[in-house]
Amino acid sequence: MPISRRTFLRSAAASALLPVVERPPTHLLPGPDGDGPPLAERAARKGLFYGCCAATAYLDDAGFAQALGREAGVLVPEWEGKRGRIERRPGVYDYSAADRLAGFARRHLMALRGHALVWHLSNPGWLDEALSVPGASDRLITDYIARVVGHYRGQIQSWDVVNEAVEVEDGRPDGLRASPWLKAFGPGYIDTAFHAARRADADAVLVYNDYGLSAADPWSASRRRAVLALLTGLRRRDTPCHALGIQGHLRAFGPRFDPDVFRRFLAEVAALRYRIIITELDVRDDGGPTAPAARDRAVADLTRRYLDVALDQPATLGVVTWGLSDRYTWLATPAEHRPGTPPPRPLPLDDALRRKPMWHAIAAAFDTARPRTHG
Ligand code: G3I
Repeated sequence: MPISRRTFLRSAAASALLPVVERPPTHLLPGPDGDGPPLAERAARKGLFYGCCAATAYLDDAGFAQALGREAGVLVPEWEGKRGRIERRPGVYDYSAADRLAGFARRHLMALRGHALVWHLSNPGWLDEALSVPGASDRLITDYIARVVGHYRGQIQSWDVVNEAVEVEDGRPDGLRASPWLKAFGPGYIDTAFHAARRADADAVLVYNDYGLSAADPWSASRRRAVLALLTGLRRRDTPCHALGIQGHLRAFGPRFDPDVFRRFLAEVAALRYRIIITELDVRDDGGPTAPAARDRAVADLTRRYLDVALDQPATLGVVTWGLSDRYTWLATPAEHRPGTPPPRPLPLDDALRRKPMWHAIAAAFDTARPRTHG
C-alpha cells in the first residue's frame, strides 16, 4: 500500500538534507515488477535518503533513466563533478556535463550530492604540475572550490569536500596520503578546503569521504584509526566538516565483515559529533561461486548485515549506491574486471533493470530502520 503523499512529505522534510519535494506516489511510478515502493520512498518514510551515482551518458538510456528517476531520491555525478572534467584548462570551467545531471535531478525532484572537490585522482595534468612548483599557492584549492561550490549553491545537499586523504601505506605517523596536495601544502590543505567550501555555501553538508573502513582486517583497522585521528583534529580545530562519507565498496567473498567492529567505529564517529553517509555502496562478487543466484544471495546478505548496522546508528543520514544497475558499474571496466570471468553483479538492479536480492536487502534495511527525528 503506497504511503500517502503527506506521510512521504513529512518524512522527507524530517530528513534535514532533503528539500521538501512532491514526488508522485508510488502507484503513479511504473514499477519493474511490482515489488512495492521504490527505495527513495522507503528511505524517506524513515527520514533517511537513498540515492546513487550516474554518469551523463547513462541518461540517454531511456530505460535506465526511468529506473533512476523511480528508485533514487539523491543523485551523484560519477565523473562529471571532478576537476579533470570541470577545469580541464586552468581557469576554464565547463559545468555542462554536471549541469545535465543536475537538471535531471531537478526534473525528478531528487537532491544532488557534489563529488569531489579535492582528490588526488581525476585531476587535469596542468594541476599536478602546478602543485609540484615550490611555493605553490593554496588558491589552487580555494579558487576552485569558490567557483564550483558557488556555481551549485542552493542545488547541493552535501559535498564530498576532501576525498580519500588517508593512505597508511605512505608511512606517515598521521596515516595521511602523501598526495600532491599534502606535499604542496601540508596536512592543513584539508582544513583549507573545508573552510573554502563553507564560505562558498553556508547550507550544504560538508563531508570527508573515504574507503576501506568497514571490514575486520588489520588494513581496514589501520584506516579507521587514521580517519578517526583526522576527524578528531578537524573537530578540535573547529573546521567546518559535518559528516563522514563511508564509501562502502564491499566484497562478498573478501575480508570478513564484523558487525560489532563496524558498529563500534560508527559510534566513535558519532561521538565526535559527525553525521554519517554511506556514499558509494556496491559489493564486488568475484572470488566465490560463479552461479549468479549464489553470488546475488551473498551480495544481498552482506548488504543487509552492513546496512542493518549502518542504519541502526542514529547519526547515519542516508545510503548512496555507486550505480543503480549492473548495466553500468565501474567494476566492469578493464581496470577492475578480469577478462574471462563472469560480469560483476554489484548493484541493486540487474543489467535488465530488474530488482535483485540486493535491492530487496536495501528495501528491508530501510523498512526495519528506526525512524529519524533529525535534530
Ligand atoms: O568520459 C571520458 C571520455 O570522454 C574520455 O575520452 C576518456 C579518456 O580517458 O575518459 C572518460 O572519462 C572516464 C570517466 O570515468 C567516465 O567514464 C575517465 O577516464 C575515468 O577515469 C573515470 O573513472 C571514474 C573514476 O572514479 C575516476 O574518476 C569511474 O567512472 C568512477 O566510478 C570512479 O569512482 C570512484 C569515486 O569517484 C571515488 N571512490 C572510488 C570510486 C571507484 O573508483
